[in-house]
Amino acid sequence: MNIAIGSDHRGFHVRSKVIELLARLGHTVHDVGTFSSGACDYPDIAALVGKKVGAGEVERGILICGTGLGMCIAANKFPGVRAAPCHDDITAEMSRRHNDSNILCLPADLLGERLIDRMIELWLTTPFEGGRHQRRVDKIRKLEESAGEGRE
Ligand code: RB5
Repeated sequence: MNIAIGSDHRGFHVRSKVIELLARLGHTVHDVGTFSSGACDYPDIAALVGKKVGAGEVERGILICGTGLGMCIAANKFPGVRAAPCHDDITAEMSRRHNDSNILCLPADLLGERLIDRMIELWLTTPFEGGRHQRRVDKIRKLEESAGEGRE
């Protein structure tokens, strides 16, 4: 799978471990940075990954900041993105089964390495259930379209 990954300074160290895991699992990683441990602004990184996922350039994205929240809020501004802030096995799995999440947002400050690895494996292998959940995801897409109407 083609996966874009990005983090701010708070997720910097976790990101390098996640990249190693993704490579071990045989995925193709598109790393958008940040490339130094100096402070940066999470919306800049979320935009790089959000654009790639929204445009279908990559199938999935992973974003890491201190809480996972800022990245998630910013990434969800891009049409076609369903970014989910996950903090355990259940949120990682259900964001795939029910919400067809295509960006996983992780809180580097709150989770240990083993849990993060397990969540990523679950998130990458869990299928979307479709059915009634497809109808709901379609409604999200309609909300995006109606929110875009009237914008120039
Ligand atoms: C950076 O200090 C911090 O605000 C960021 O990593 C993230 O937690 C934002 O949601």
